[in-house]
Amino acid sequence: MNLIHHPKRYLLDTLVGLVLGSMLLFGSVYIYRLNSDSRDLVFDSQLAMQGQQSSNNLGCVACHTVDGSPGVGPSWLHMWGRTEKYGKGRTVTVDEAYIRESILDPPAKIVEGFPNVMARYYLEEPEITALIEYIKALGNPVPPAAQ
Ligand code: HEC
Repeated sequence: MNLIHHPKRYLLDTLVGLVLGSMLLFGSVYIYRLNSDSRDLVFDSQLAMQGQQSSNNLGCVACHTVDGSPGVGPSWLHMWGRTEKYGKGRTVTVDEAYIRESILDPPAKIVEGFPNVMARYYLEEPEITALIEYIKALGNPVPPAAQ
């Protein structure tokens, strides 16, 4: 018996192929859009532009959105100066030191409501400074009434 020439088998193979193919296509388009959305932002600060480039290159954008929409990690929109909850009722203000620590040693403080999935990034100081400048440029927290 030769299954390869069975007409129903052909149909099934084609169907599975089409489903997998379209998943791949839509997945790629989705990731491409995620990436190009963040690439669109223009800042006065050259350093912030560099930070944006680093975030794209290093793949931070895969988990951190910059438009406030949900992601694997907290959105970077209005993150600067925000008060984050971590651990048992402890809080920390998002400033330079905290961002540096979050990049070099993410498990040190796990933001409430998020999983401990971020890898350590061993980055050089200039790249960290640029990422901080970029996050700064994404703005201060907006009071609830103004959102
Ligand atoms: C695999 C997904 C993932 C990637 C990639 C990732 N992060 Fe994260 N990040 C997270 C998650 C989840 C959290 C929240 C949990 C925690 O505190 O570790 C987080 C937290 C943070 C925080 C603290 C945020 C806050 O609201 O307090 C900063 C800053 C940060 N990440 C920066 C970066 C930078 C910079 C990069 C790229 C170099 C990056 N992350 C890449 C998942 C990711």
